[in-house]
Amino acid sequence: MAKTIHPATDQAQTLRQLHAERAATAVDEGNTGVYSITSGKGGVGKTAVVANLAYTLAMLGKRVLILDADLGLANIDVVFGLAPAYNLNHFFAGDLELQQILVDGPMGIKILPAGSGVQKFTHLDSQQKMRLLDGLDAMHGHFDYVLIDTEAGIADNVTYFNTAAQEIIVVTTPEPTAITDAYALMKLLSTAFHEKNFNLVVNQIQNEDDALDVFRKLTMVANRYLDISINYLGSIPEDRQMFDAIRRQRVICELHPSSKITLAFQNLARRICAEPSQAAPKGNIQFFWKKLLNIGGQG
Ligand SMILES: Nc1ncnc2c1ncn2[C@@H]1O[C@H](COP(=O)(O)OP(=O)(O)O)[C@@H](O)[C@H]1O
Ligand SMILES: [Mg+2]
Repeated sequence: MAKTIHPATDQAQTLRQLHAERAATAVDEGNTGVYSITSGKGGVGKTAVVANLAYTLAMLGKRVLILDADLGLANIDVVFGLAPAYNLNHFFAGDLELQQILVDGPMGIKILPAGSGVQKFTHLDSQQKMRLLDGLDAMHGHFDYVLIDTEAGIADNVTYFNTAAQEIIVVTTPEPTAITDAYALMKLLSTAFHEKNFNLVVNQIQNEDDALDVFRKLTMVANRYLDISINYLGSIPEDRQMFDAIRRQRVICELHPSSKITLAFQNLARRICAEPSQAAPKGNIQFFWKKLLNIGGQG
């Protein structure tokens, strides 16, 4: 009887490859990269980017925490097919500890569902802040990356996460209104909150020229009117199988590991692993939590 390739052999090879990549892209232990994924306009693919980026980072051996701060419809929990019973509201009410709210996603990804508790971030009393900081301290060193799925736009709690994060990833599509709104968001963050460094991901492109064109347009107006720098992080192709993936509540990178879109997410993940943070003073997770909670000792 002919023997087919044993899946374990295949798996071992993949693991070896991942391990080698992990060694090549290792960040300092205990050093956590905090990325907010944001956009001017809704529906451009933030949640899709967060879920698939988390997945590919996890495939590279990184420990990832997703802070689900998006109150939109297709949330991270829906995308991963999870039904979290609790969210930050239960923590703020004093019913549960932070660890009890965490939900397990695929590949060891952890998800902290914020629910409508996200809006409370801007006005917590000092006791709630201390409790939150204690809970967060207990998680220190557990994650290589924190990805924050924010809402679209410029509401208070959105800018709050963006200014506290170490790196901001602005997602847009090549659609003119999405580009205009991305520009408006960067303008507000730079003029009102002194954010000077942005990373750009262009989603749902037909070809790479589309993405570079968006980057050129944004850079041109930004250079002219704003004192900011935009780092082109990469592009993600439009893929009709995304719809099916969401319906099946699995990430597309898991369902179609060798498709173009998965390759694009892998490139994005590798770039993130390889790039040192631009914003050195914000380069630490304690800074992020403290800034988020508006507690002194920044910088
Ligand atoms: N690269 C892509 N190709 C095809 N469809 C996409 C892609 N990215 C996102 N989508 C679809 O666009 C819609 C909005 O995406 P979503 O991630 O929910 O956006 P946001 O979080 O910015 O509101 C979803 O139906 C999603 O399936
Ligand atoms: Mg979303």
